[in-house]
Amino acid sequence: MKGASPQGARNEQEAARWVRSMFGRVARRYDLANHLLSFNIDRYWRRHTVRRVRSVLERPGARALDLCCGTGDLTLALRGARANTQVLGSDFCRPMLAAARTKIGSRGISLFESDALRLPLRDGSLDLVTVAFGFRNLANYEAGLAEMRRVLRPGGAAAILEFSQPPNAVFRALYNFYARRILPWVGGALSGSRDAYTYLPESVRKFPSPQELAEGMRRTGFDNVSFEYLTGGIVALHLGYSTTAPAF
Ligand SMILES: C[S@@+](CC[C@H](N)C(=O)[O-])C[C@H]1O[C@@H](n2cnc3c(N)ncnc32)[C@H](O)[C@@H]1O
Repeated sequence: MKGASPQGARNEQEAARWVRSMFGRVARRYDLANHLLSFNIDRYWRRHTVRRVRSVLERPGARALDLCCGTGDLTLALRGARANTQVLGSDFCRPMLAAARTKIGSRGISLFESDALRLPLRDGSLDLVTVAFGFRNLANYEAGLAEMRRVLRPGGAAAILEFSQPPNAVFRALYNFYARRILPWVGGALSGSRDAYTYLPESVRKFPSPQELAEGMRRTGFDNVSFEYLTGGIVALHLGYSTTAPAF
């Protein structure tokens, strides 16, 4: 498990810079492209994620962070689940955060600009960390997991919703045709940035398998790690818990 490696990036700093700049270019049309290209199924994936972490959200005084929150769709879904929960959202791309601010309005969510690998939060200060379609873009996956684990208090949970490779060979071939041949054209036309939608299937192809990611979570100290495929394995949702304080 290394990290995102966009073409031409020679190290982690360059990879992160490329990712931030790419999301900055697509921020204005991100939601439209997302919903159209996924035929709106992305809304279901986020709702499902919230359902799976509801018991953590419902703890009295729970504090949840949506990492790589982008334009804030999962952040808002977390807020909708439970009014008493303190919901935070963070991202390192200013134009994406600006879009989230507009969408979220006065719904009582604190948004802040931060690299997911260096969160300005105390150890053990959160009950829940979620990340939807952001983890794949981190320049260092081990460091991303360690940072998620660091900020969780004992009993806290992490949920990682990310694109995957469908396990069924026929469905995988169909999906890959769509992702590699159609998506870059349509995504490029909708967002004005073709490289973003060429990067997307490429980054999914290079991303660790769900089994490898689950193993990485266990190595980082997460317990009761599990994953489930959604929509035939186009995406996978990983869950892990911190049952003890991290030993850092
Ligand atoms: C595909 S978007 C997903 C946005 C949102 N979570 C969603 O479900 O639509 C990925 C987001 O991850 C953010 N991101 C990528 N790497 C990051 C990092 N190292 N730190 C913080 N945000 C990061 C990008 O800026 C972008 O907004």
